[in-house]
Amino acid sequence: MSERKKALFICLGNICRSPIAEAVFLKKISDAGIGDQWEVDSAAIGAWHVGKQPDSRALNTMKEHNLSYNNRARQITKSDFNYYDYIFGMDTENMSDLKRLTPSGSNAKQLMLGDFDPESPGKIIRDPYYDDGAAGFEQCYIQCVRCCAAFLNKVQNNEF
Ligand code: 4NP
Repeated sequence: MSERKKALFICLGNICRSPIAEAVFLKKISDAGIGDQWEVDSAAIGAWHVGKQPDSRALNTMKEHNLSYNNRARQITKSDFNYYDYIFGMDTENMSDLKRLTPSGSNAKQLMLGDFDPESPGKIIRDPYYDDGAAGFEQCYIQCVRCCAAFLNKVQNNEF
């Protein structure tokens, strides 16, 4: 088998958006029967929540959609930039943070996940952390589903 493709999903804290994106992407590749062709992880820009489970609202959203998740938050490292083929940010702040942190020699494609949304290209995946309820997490999930499906299609068509 050829070498696995590697995707890393990033957000500010790695407890809300990027775990949902990671779980959605894992489900998509599993459903497509190509789970063994990918290595997938998520990480944070900041270190505040390292070692923690996702926010309970993110876990609830994942449970409601039958997504399993057992990962813990970690902070992105310099070596991630050399290891992963695709590094996804959730908003423009993530993208500028990634750019600032990129070590020389990195070949990873840095992509904003919302740019793959066929319904609203370029829309950010908004941080739901400071919301009161679950609606922002559901919105994040819905965007991740559309974007991950569209990205996978493009990879399968050799567009990425
Ligand atoms: P995330 O949300 O980036 O989607 O995981 C956040 C979680 C925590 C914080 C910010 C964003 N925080 O500042 O603690």
